[in-house]
Amino acid sequence: MERSQLGEIVTPLLDWYHKNKRCLPWRADREPYHVWVSEIMLQQTRVEAVIPYYERFMERLPEIASLASCEDEELFKLWEGLGYYSRARNLKKAAQAICTKHQGIFPEQFEEILDLAGIGAYTAGAISSIAFEQARAAVDGNVLRVITRLTQDCQDITDAKFRIQVTEDLEKIYPINGRGDFTQSLMELGAVVCVPNGKPKCEECPLHFLCGAYQNNTQLSYPVKKKKPARRIEQKTVFIMKYEDKIAIHKRETQGVLSGMWELPNLEGDLTEQQILEWLAVQKLTAKNMEKITHGKQPLKHIFTHIEWHMMCWIVNCESVNKDNRFTWVTAKQLENDIALPTAFKKVYQKTNL
Ligand code: ADE
Ligand code: SF4
Repeated sequence: MERSQLGEIVTPLLDWYHKNKRCLPWRADREPYHVWVSEIMLQQTRVEAVIPYYERFMERLPEIASLASCEDEELFKLWEGLGYYSRARNLKKAAQAICTKHQGIFPEQFEEILDLAGIGAYTAGAISSIAFEQARAAVDGNVLRVITRLTQDCQDITDAKFRIQVTEDLEKIYPINGRGDFTQSLMELGAVVCVPNGKPKCEECPLHFLCGAYQNNTQLSYPVKKKKPARRIEQKTVFIMKYEDKIAIHKRETQGVLSGMWELPNLEGDLTEQQILEWLAVQKLTAKNMEKITHGKQPLKHIFTHIEWHMMCWIVNCESVNKDNRFTWVTAKQLENDIALPTAFKKVYQKTNL
Protein backbone atom coordinates (compact mmCIF):
# COMPACT_ATOMS: atom_id res chain seq x y z
CA MET A 1 0.00 0.00 0.00
CA GLU A 2 0.95 3.64 -0.43
CA ARG A 3 1.55 5.86 2.57
CA SER A 4 -1.45 7.99 1.46
CA GLN A 5 -3.71 4.95 1.98
CA LEU A 6 -2.63 4.34 5.58
CA GLY A 7 -6.06 5.42 6.83
CA GLU A 8 -7.32 1.99 5.79
CA ILE A 9 -5.43 0.28 8.61
CA VAL A 10 -7.31 2.04 11.41
CA THR A 11 -10.50 -0.01 11.64
CA PRO A 12 -9.02 -3.50 11.16
CA LEU A 13 -6.17 -2.71 13.52
CA LEU A 14 -8.44 -1.37 16.28
CA ASP A 15 -10.80 -4.35 15.93
CA TRP A 16 -7.86 -6.72 16.19
CA TYR A 17 -6.46 -4.88 19.21
CA HIS A 18 -9.75 -5.03 21.10
CA LYS A 19 -9.88 -8.79 20.65
CA ASN A 20 -6.20 -9.61 21.11
CA LYS A 21 -4.53 -7.11 23.40
CA ARG A 22 -2.37 -8.53 26.15
CA CYS A 23 -3.48 -7.90 29.69
CA LEU A 24 -0.61 -5.80 31.10
CA PRO A 25 -0.54 -4.06 34.49
CA TRP A 26 -0.11 -0.58 32.97
CA ARG A 27 -3.16 -1.13 30.80
CA ALA A 28 -5.48 -1.41 33.81
CA ASP A 29 -6.18 2.34 33.65
CA ARG A 30 -5.14 5.50 31.78
CA GLU A 31 -3.48 7.24 34.69
CA PRO A 32 -0.74 9.46 33.15
CA TYR A 33 1.74 8.51 35.87
CA HIS A 34 1.23 4.82 35.07
CA VAL A 35 1.53 5.35 31.32
CA TRP A 36 4.64 7.47 31.79
CA VAL A 37 6.57 5.11 34.07
CA SER A 38 5.69 2.06 31.97
CA GLU A 39 6.76 3.73 28.73
CA ILE A 40 10.09 4.76 30.25
CA MET A 41 10.71 1.23 31.55
CA LEU A 42 9.71 -0.29 28.19
CA GLN A 43 12.14 1.85 26.21
CA GLN A 44 15.10 -0.47 26.53
CA THR A 45 13.58 -3.47 28.24
CA ARG A 46 11.25 -6.29 27.15
CA VAL A 47 7.63 -6.39 28.35
CA GLU A 48 8.02 -9.62 30.38
CA ALA A 49 11.08 -8.22 32.15
CA VAL A 50 9.35 -4.92 32.92
CA ILE A 51 6.20 -6.34 34.58
CA PRO A 52 7.67 -7.20 38.01
CA TYR A 53 9.70 -3.97 38.10
CA TYR A 54 6.62 -1.93 37.24
CA GLU A 55 4.51 -3.59 39.92
CA ARG A 56 7.12 -3.16 42.62
CA PHE A 57 7.72 0.46 41.59
CA MET A 58 4.03 1.36 41.82
CA GLU A 59 3.65 -0.40 45.13
CA ARG A 60 6.48 1.60 46.63
CA LEU A 61 5.92 4.89 44.74
CA PRO A 62 2.18 5.02 44.03
CA GLU A 63 2.10 8.74 43.23
CA ILE A 64 4.13 11.37 41.46
CA ALA A 65 4.84 13.04 44.82
CA SER A 66 6.29 9.83 46.25
CA LEU A 67 8.64 9.53 43.27
CA ALA A 68 9.66 13.18 43.61
CA SER A 69 10.72 12.66 47.23
CA CYS A 70 12.26 9.18 46.90
CA GLU A 71 15.90 8.91 47.97
CA ASP A 72 18.26 8.15 45.09
CA GLU A 73 19.57 4.98 46.76
CA GLU A 74 16.08 3.56 47.07
CA LEU A 75 15.11 4.61 43.56
CA PHE A 76 18.18 2.93 42.09
CA LYS A 77 17.47 -0.19 44.12
CA LEU A 78 13.97 -0.30 42.59
CA TRP A 79 15.61 0.12 39.18
CA GLU A 80 18.46 -2.34 39.77
CA GLY A 81 18.79 -4.71 36.81
CA LEU A 82 16.73 -2.58 34.41
CA GLY A 83 19.86 -0.69 33.35
CA TYR A 84 20.22 2.80 31.90
CA TYR A 85 19.94 4.43 35.30
CA SER A 86 19.67 7.89 33.78
CA ARG A 87 16.08 6.88 33.02
CA ALA A 88 15.41 6.62 36.78
CA ARG A 89 17.26 9.85 37.49
CA ASN A 90 15.18 11.66 34.86
CA LEU A 91 11.93 10.18 36.18
CA LYS A 92 12.62 11.69 39.57
CA LYS A 93 13.73 15.00 38.09
CA ALA A 94 10.54 15.19 36.00
CA ALA A 95 8.41 14.24 39.02
CA GLN A 96 9.97 17.11 40.96
CA ALA A 97 9.26 19.49 38.07
CA ILE A 98 5.63 18.32 37.98
CA CYS A 99 5.34 19.03 41.71
CA THR A 100 6.87 22.50 41.51
CA LYS A 101 5.67 23.73 38.10
CA HIS A 102 2.39 21.86 37.62
CA GLN A 103 0.99 21.61 41.19
CA GLY A 104 1.71 17.88 41.20
CA ILE A 105 -0.65 17.20 38.30
CA PHE A 106 0.73 15.61 35.15
CA PRO A 107 0.55 18.25 32.36
CA GLU A 108 -1.75 17.66 29.37
CA GLN A 109 -0.13 19.97 26.82
CA PHE A 110 2.13 18.08 24.42
CA GLU A 111 4.89 20.72 24.64
CA GLU A 112 4.79 20.69 28.43
CA ILE A 113 5.07 16.90 28.44
CA LEU A 114 7.97 17.02 25.99
CA ASP A 115 9.68 19.53 28.25
CA LEU A 116 9.98 17.03 31.12
CA ALA A 117 13.33 15.33 31.73
CA GLY A 118 13.78 12.05 29.88
CA ILE A 119 10.71 12.49 27.69
CA GLY A 120 11.29 12.60 23.94
CA ALA A 121 8.88 12.66 21.01
CA TYR A 122 8.05 8.95 21.35
CA THR A 123 7.18 9.04 25.06
CA ALA A 124 5.34 12.37 24.78
CA GLY A 125 3.27 10.91 21.94
CA ALA A 126 2.50 7.77 23.92
CA ILE A 127 1.39 9.70 27.02
CA SER A 128 -0.62 12.29 25.02
CA SER A 129 -2.56 9.64 23.16
CA ILE A 130 -2.89 6.89 25.78
CA ALA A 131 -3.52 9.04 28.86
CA PHE A 132 -5.18 12.08 27.24
CA GLU A 133 -6.73 10.74 24.01
CA GLN A 134 -4.90 13.26 21.85
CA ALA A 135 -4.08 12.57 18.18
CA ARG A 136 -0.36 12.10 18.81
CA ALA A 137 1.61 9.19 17.44
CA ALA A 138 4.35 7.29 19.31
CA VAL A 139 6.80 6.11 16.70
CA ASP A 140 9.43 3.66 17.89
CA GLY A 141 11.28 0.84 16.14
CA ASN A 142 8.24 -1.45 16.37
CA VAL A 143 5.96 1.04 14.67
CA LEU A 144 8.55 1.87 12.00
CA ARG A 145 8.88 -1.83 11.20
CA VAL A 146 5.13 -2.19 10.71
CA ILE A 147 4.81 0.94 8.57
CA THR A 148 7.82 0.26 6.33
CA ARG A 149 6.58 -3.27 5.69
CA LEU A 150 3.04 -2.18 4.91
CA THR A 151 4.26 0.46 2.47
CA GLN A 152 7.48 -1.27 1.34
CA ASP A 153 9.43 1.82 2.23
CA CYS A 154 13.24 1.54 1.86
CA GLN A 155 14.10 4.74 3.71
CA ASP A 156 16.51 4.50 6.60
CA ILE A 157 14.50 4.26 9.83
CA THR A 158 17.38 5.69 11.87
CA ASP A 159 16.97 8.96 9.97
CA ALA A 160 15.21 11.48 12.23
CA LYS A 161 13.52 13.15 9.26
CA PHE A 162 11.91 9.89 8.22
CA ARG A 163 10.66 9.29 11.73
CA ILE A 164 9.07 12.74 11.81
CA GLN A 165 7.45 12.11 8.43
CA VAL A 166 5.92 8.83 9.64
CA THR A 167 4.75 10.54 12.82
CA GLU A 168 2.99 13.25 10.82
CA ASP A 169 1.40 10.77 8.42
CA LEU A 170 0.10 8.68 11.30
CA GLU A 171 -1.28 11.69 13.14
CA LYS A 172 -3.42 12.49 10.09
CA ILE A 173 -5.20 9.14 10.37
CA TYR A 174 -5.82 9.06 14.13
CA PRO A 175 -9.47 8.16 14.76
CA ILE A 176 -11.85 10.38 16.74
CA ASN A 177 -12.50 7.58 19.21
CA GLY A 178 -9.83 5.27 20.53
CA ARG A 179 -6.72 7.34 20.00
CA GLY A 180 -4.90 5.75 22.89
CA ASP A 181 -5.94 2.35 21.65
CA PHE A 182 -4.69 3.18 18.17
CA THR A 183 -1.24 4.03 19.53
CA GLN A 184 -1.19 0.82 21.52
CA SER A 185 -2.54 -1.27 18.64
CA LEU A 186 0.43 -0.27 16.48
CA MET A 187 2.87 -1.10 19.29
CA GLU A 188 1.09 -4.36 19.97
CA LEU A 189 1.11 -5.47 16.34
CA GLY A 190 4.84 -4.74 16.15
CA ALA A 191 5.49 -6.60 19.39
CA VAL A 192 3.48 -9.79 18.81
CA VAL A 193 2.69 -10.16 15.08
CA CYS A 194 4.94 -8.04 12.91
CA VAL A 195 7.92 -9.19 14.96
CA PRO A 196 11.61 -8.39 14.52
CA ASN A 197 14.28 -11.09 14.16
CA GLY A 198 12.75 -13.56 11.77
CA LYS A 199 9.50 -14.01 9.90
CA PRO A 200 6.52 -11.99 11.03
CA LYS A 201 3.26 -13.87 11.66
CA CYS A 202 1.45 -12.50 8.63
CA GLU A 203 -1.29 -15.17 8.69
CA GLU A 204 -2.44 -13.74 12.04
CA CYS A 205 -2.08 -10.14 10.90
CA PRO A 206 -5.26 -8.08 10.52
CA LEU A 207 -3.48 -5.94 7.90
CA HIS A 208 -2.12 -8.60 5.59
CA PHE A 209 -4.69 -7.86 2.88
CA LEU A 210 -3.23 -4.32 2.74
CA CYS A 211 0.42 -5.16 3.21
CA GLY A 212 2.92 -4.67 0.39
CA ALA A 213 5.67 -6.73 1.99
CA TYR A 214 3.26 -9.63 2.56
CA GLN A 215 2.00 -9.54 -1.02
CA ASN A 216 5.54 -9.58 -2.40
CA ASN A 217 7.02 -11.80 0.29
CA THR A 218 9.60 -9.12 1.11
CA GLN A 219 8.91 -8.83 4.85
CA LEU A 220 12.53 -9.44 5.78
CA SER A 221 13.79 -6.61 3.57
CA TYR A 222 12.20 -4.09 5.94
CA PRO A 223 12.94 -2.04 7.90
CA VAL A 224 16.10 -0.68 6.27
CA LYS A 225 18.51 0.46 8.95
CA LYS A 226 21.85 2.13 8.53
CA LYS A 227 24.61 0.02 10.14
CA LYS A 228 25.55 1.23 13.58
CA PRO A 229 29.23 1.93 14.22
CA ALA A 230 30.83 -0.95 16.11
CA ARG A 231 30.91 -0.70 19.89
CA ARG A 232 34.17 0.37 21.47
CA ILE A 233 35.75 -2.41 23.55
CA GLU A 234 37.20 -1.48 26.92
CA GLN A 235 39.37 -3.90 28.85
CA LYS A 236 38.87 -3.79 32.63
CA THR A 237 40.29 -5.44 35.68
CA VAL A 238 37.60 -5.78 38.34
CA PHE A 239 38.04 -6.77 41.98
CA ILE A 240 35.97 -8.51 44.57
CA MET A 241 38.00 -7.12 47.44
CA LYS A 242 37.31 -8.73 50.79
CA TYR A 243 38.32 -7.76 54.28
CA GLU A 244 36.89 -9.61 57.25
CA ASP A 245 33.18 -10.01 56.38
CA LYS A 246 33.03 -7.00 54.08
CA ILE A 247 33.65 -6.20 50.46
CA ALA A 248 34.75 -2.93 48.89
CA ILE A 249 32.54 -0.78 46.68
CA HIS A 250 33.06 2.70 45.32
CA LYS A 251 30.91 5.51 43.85
CA ARG A 252 31.61 6.19 40.18
CA GLU A 253 32.42 9.60 38.76
CA THR A 254 29.45 11.72 37.76
CA GLN A 255 30.52 11.58 34.10
CA GLY A 256 30.19 8.84 31.50
CA VAL A 257 28.73 5.36 31.58
CA LEU A 258 26.99 4.39 34.88
CA SER A 259 27.72 7.85 36.22
CA GLY A 260 27.24 8.20 39.95
CA MET A 261 26.40 4.52 40.44
CA TRP A 262 28.13 2.11 42.82
CA GLU A 263 30.88 -0.05 41.33
CA LEU A 264 33.26 -2.78 42.35
CA PRO A 265 36.84 -1.47 42.43
CA ASN A 266 38.21 -1.65 38.90
CA LEU A 267 40.97 -0.39 36.64
CA GLU A 268 41.39 0.19 32.94
CA GLY A 269 43.25 -2.58 31.12
CA ASP A 270 44.10 -6.22 31.75
CA LEU A 271 46.56 -5.95 34.63
CA THR A 272 49.23 -8.43 35.71
CA GLU A 273 49.45 -9.66 39.28
CA GLN A 274 52.50 -7.42 39.80
CA GLN A 275 50.62 -4.33 38.58
CA ILE A 276 47.71 -5.18 40.84
CA LEU A 277 49.99 -5.45 43.88
CA GLU A 278 51.48 -2.05 43.14
CA TRP A 279 48.04 -0.51 42.76
CA LEU A 280 46.86 -2.08 46.04
CA ALA A 281 49.83 -0.51 47.81
CA VAL A 282 48.83 2.93 46.52
CA GLN A 283 45.31 2.26 47.83
CA LYS A 284 46.85 1.53 51.27
CA LEU A 285 45.75 -2.09 51.18
CA THR A 286 47.80 -5.25 51.46
CA ALA A 287 46.68 -8.55 50.05
CA LYS A 288 46.83 -11.86 51.90
CA ASN A 289 46.17 -13.63 48.63
CA MET A 290 44.43 -13.14 45.34
CA GLU A 291 42.97 -15.28 42.63
CA LYS A 292 41.91 -14.60 39.10
CA ILE A 293 38.38 -15.93 38.64
CA THR A 294 38.08 -15.39 34.90
CA HIS A 295 39.90 -18.08 32.99
CA GLY A 296 42.93 -17.40 30.83
CA LYS A 297 42.27 -14.63 28.36
CA GLN A 298 38.49 -15.14 28.59
CA PRO A 299 36.94 -11.99 30.03
CA LEU A 300 33.45 -11.59 31.40
CA LYS A 301 31.58 -9.37 28.94
CA HIS A 302 28.99 -6.70 29.47
CA ILE A 303 27.40 -4.77 26.65
CA PHE A 304 26.23 -1.16 26.83
CA THR A 305 24.82 0.86 23.94
CA HIS A 306 28.14 2.17 22.63
CA ILE A 307 30.69 0.35 24.77
CA GLU A 308 31.53 -3.25 25.55
CA TRP A 309 33.36 -4.06 28.78
CA HIS A 310 35.69 -7.06 28.77
CA MET A 311 36.32 -7.70 32.43
CA MET A 312 39.12 -9.73 33.97
CA CYS A 313 37.98 -10.53 37.49
CA TRP A 314 39.97 -11.12 40.64
CA ILE A 315 39.17 -11.96 44.23
CA VAL A 316 41.52 -10.15 46.57
CA ASN A 317 41.57 -11.10 50.24
CA CYS A 318 43.01 -8.20 52.16
CA GLU A 319 45.31 -8.66 55.10
CA SER A 320 45.18 -5.09 56.27
CA VAL A 321 43.18 -2.07 55.29
CA ASN A 322 44.33 1.43 56.14
CA LYS A 323 41.49 3.50 57.64
CA ASP A 324 41.58 6.27 55.06
CA ASN A 325 41.33 4.06 51.99
CA ARG A 326 38.96 5.36 49.32
CA PHE A 327 36.45 2.50 49.39
CA THR A 328 33.15 1.88 51.14
CA TRP A 329 33.08 -1.50 52.88
CA VAL A 330 29.77 -3.33 53.04
CA THR A 331 28.54 -6.78 54.06
CA ALA A 332 27.06 -9.19 51.52
CA LYS A 333 23.68 -8.53 53.13
CA GLN A 334 23.95 -4.76 52.70
CA LEU A 335 25.02 -5.25 49.11
CA GLU A 336 21.97 -7.42 48.52
CA ASN A 337 19.40 -5.28 50.31
CA ASP A 338 20.52 -1.66 50.26
CA ILE A 339 22.94 -1.07 47.40
CA ALA A 340 21.96 -0.83 43.74
CA LEU A 341 24.86 -2.49 41.96
CA PRO A 342 24.72 -2.23 38.16
CA THR A 343 24.38 -5.52 36.31
CA ALA A 344 27.92 -5.38 34.88
CA PHE A 345 29.29 -5.66 38.44
CA LYS A 346 26.53 -8.00 39.65
CA LYS A 347 27.77 -10.47 37.05
CA VAL A 348 31.25 -10.33 38.56
CA TYR A 349 29.94 -10.62 42.10
CA GLN A 350 27.75 -13.60 41.18
CA LYS A 351 30.76 -15.46 39.81
CA THR A 352 32.08 -15.75 43.34
CA ASN A 353 28.98 -17.38 44.94
CA LEU A 354 29.64 -15.52 48.17
N1 ADE B 1 6.17 -1.16 24.25
C1 ADE B 1 6.25 0.17 24.39
N2 ADE B 1 5.13 0.65 24.94
C2 ADE B 1 4.33 -0.41 25.17
C3 ADE B 1 3.04 -0.58 25.74
N3 ADE B 1 2.36 0.47 26.19
N4 ADE B 1 2.54 -1.81 25.81
C4 ADE B 1 3.25 -2.85 25.36
N5 ADE B 1 4.44 -2.77 24.81
C5 ADE B 1 4.99 -1.56 24.72
FE1 SF4 C 1 3.83 -7.19 9.19
FE2 SF4 C 1 3.12 -9.37 7.86
FE3 SF4 C 1 1.26 -7.76 8.91
FE4 SF4 C 1 2.66 -6.98 6.81
S1 SF4 C 1 1.22 -8.69 6.91
S2 SF4 C 1 2.20 -5.77 8.63
S3 SF4 C 1 4.66 -7.88 7.26
S4 SF4 C 1 2.79 -8.97 10.02
